[in-house]
Amino acid sequence: MNILVTGGTGYIGSHTVVELIQAGHKVEILDNLCNSKVSVLDKIAEITGVKPIFHHVDLLNKEALLEVFENGNFAAVMHFAGLKAVAESIEEPLKYYENNVVGTLNLIDAMQKCNVRKLLFSSSATVYGDPGTSACTEDLPTGQKITNPYGKTKYMIEEILKDLSVAQPDFEIMLLRYFNPVGAHESGKLGEDPNGQPNNLMPIIMKVARGEYAELSVYGNDYPTADGTCIRDYIHVVDLAKGHLAALKKMRPGVQTFNLGTGRGTSVLEMIAAFEKASGKPLPYKIVGRRKGDLPELYAVAEKASKELGWKTELTIDDAMRDTIRFLNGN
Ligand code: NAD
Ligand code: WQD
Repeated sequence: MNILVTGGTGYIGSHTVVELIQAGHKVEILDNLCNSKVSVLDKIAEITGVKPIFHHVDLLNKEALLEVFENGNFAAVMHFAGLKAVAESIEEPLKYYENNVVGTLNLIDAMQKCNVRKLLFSSSATVYGDPGTSACTEDLPTGQKITNPYGKTKYMIEEILKDLSVAQPDFEIMLLRYFNPVGAHESGKLGEDPNGQPNNLMPIIMKVARGEYAELSVYGNDYPTADGTCIRDYIHVVDLAKGHLAALKKMRPGVQTFNLGTGRGTSVLEMIAAFEKASGKPLPYKIVGRRKGDLPELYAVAEKASKELGWKTELTIDDAMRDTIRFLNGN
């Protein structure tokens, strides 16, 4: 298939592009490079032997976006492009609503005009808000008690896509709710390399390992979990990428929703221990107060994806740490 990948030079997008190319798909990338580097295209070429066509275009630029669609002949769109920094979204909510929500509306508009009907959307476990349970199944209510504008954009986009599907039942839509992506490509050539200050646990661990930060602050060890630190479902980014290929094969008219997670929880201290095991060095950290909005424990129930997509994760936290260190050493 000829696939347009928005946000394809970003962390999850670039790994998915590699899997798509290796599966024989033709890929074009659209990205404004606000959180990624153009050199990712060369890394993709080194891994796959193919350098994808790149459009340096912002989703907010409707004319340039339409031109990409008019010149391409896309069978499907994988839509990763978006801003994702939770704290920044609280400081600058309108930037998030414009970039993520308006950007997606522009994308759908271009798809409609050019008769492209398959859309896979990067949603997030954040849409569950505070679900009142640790184990997230896809049928839990969404949109309640979401504590930040970033998360609300994901919820709003899901709702927009559901409404679109009612009005235009021929649209084939996948809402893919990611849990916590970690790790890097096993070649060490691709990984998470955000511009500016990272927010998520793994990129911060990487900064500590590089000596850019003195230590990791662990946000609370007084949660009702075995070691007192929060538990999340960390999924290897290559497993996550493969989940998109599995979803692509099962598209049909209407909206389908899937959690993409491992179904297993890991605590912050367990993540630190796994990183130390892989690197062979201690990772400096200190326990600080809780971070506002953090839930003690959250993980995916991954059965639906397993049953309906025939996909489940294969890689472990140890694999993710090994690949992260390869990426650190390569960069
Ligand atoms: P990322 O920042 O590495 O990638 C996003 C890419 O989108 C970047 O390359 C950025 O330059 C591009 N982009 C942003 N706004 C754009 C715009 N207006 N026009 C064109 N390009 C634009 O992030 P990621 O971790 O790869 O996440 C990909 C998607 O998955 C995002 O939508 C994110 O919200 C979602 N997601 C991420 C996580 C996570 O923890 N990483 C979890 C759940 C969902
Ligand atoms: C993981 C754990 C922290 C940093 C966020 C978004 C969610 C989704 C994934 C996009 C938590 C702890 C972290 C640090 C720490 N993104 N931590 N010290 O909060 O589960 O989810 O990213 O959709 O929407 O909310 O991920 O990586 O920020 O934190 O102790 O310096 O690491 O408390 O338990 P989170 P995270």
